Amino acid sequence: MSVRLAVFASGGGTNLQALIDRFHAAKESPVRIALVVTDREDSQALQRARDAGIYGTVIEVAKRPVDFVARETLAALDGADIDLVALAGYLRLVPAAVIRRFRERVINIHPALLPSFGGAGMYGLHVHRAVIDSGCPVSGPTVHYVDEEYDKGRVIAQWPVPVVAGDTPESLAARVLEVEHILYPAAVELVARSISRGVHVMPDAVSKRCFVQAPQNAPTEADIRRALGIH
Ligand code: GRF
Repeated sequence: MSVRLAVFASGGGTNLQALIDRFHAAKESPVRIALVVTDREDSQALQRARDAGIYGTVIEVAKRPVDFVARETLAALDGADIDLVALAGYLRLVPAAVIRRFRERVINIHPALLPSFGGAGMYGLHVHRAVIDSGCPVSGPTVHYVDEEYDKGRVIAQWPVPVVAGDTPESLAARVLEVEHILYPAAVELVARSISRGVHVMPDAVSKRCFVQAPQNAPTEADIRRALGIH
């Protein structure tokens, strides 16, 4: 049985498209995209859902009491019998009542290596500008569980992407986004498979499956001196 996925998106929806391309046409997919939720009638994500024949709905958030938004969101999720929610460029805080009902069943992709460069106001090009301004030589997407705060939940998967000399926020965003489109479908599948096995994915179990690409061995002093250009 497929895990029924809802995707929440506010903007361009290229990550939604990557999920559609990976799961929607496949015959025996572990994931069925059953619902797309957006807070903006004019989001390209909604159009992408319609083009793929997926039910999309607008739940407005701006200037509405959070309990209205929570009630409407839960009704949409229950109505489509949703098991897992993937945020993909959703620029709103998911109401706490929704998180409580879907604890460890709401995930997000963020375009930097959390816990750095996250939090309120850290979205879009702001994130990539902050990475470049910090001088950090590496960035990359993070897939994580969503809790009541922005970008704070436990990490599921990350992949490093280099920051190169002369990078602009736009060029770095494009390099990271290319990896997001591969990482997010894989991470969604990882979480979906554990849900369909009936495993409650507790953070400790996830960390063992986390596919952070890290060197297997500690570097030698020579490795570090070479990397720093000390001869
Ligand atoms: C992505 O960079 C994602 O990491 C962030 O918002 C952006 C959404 O892009 N959460 P798109 O709408 O999927 O193209």
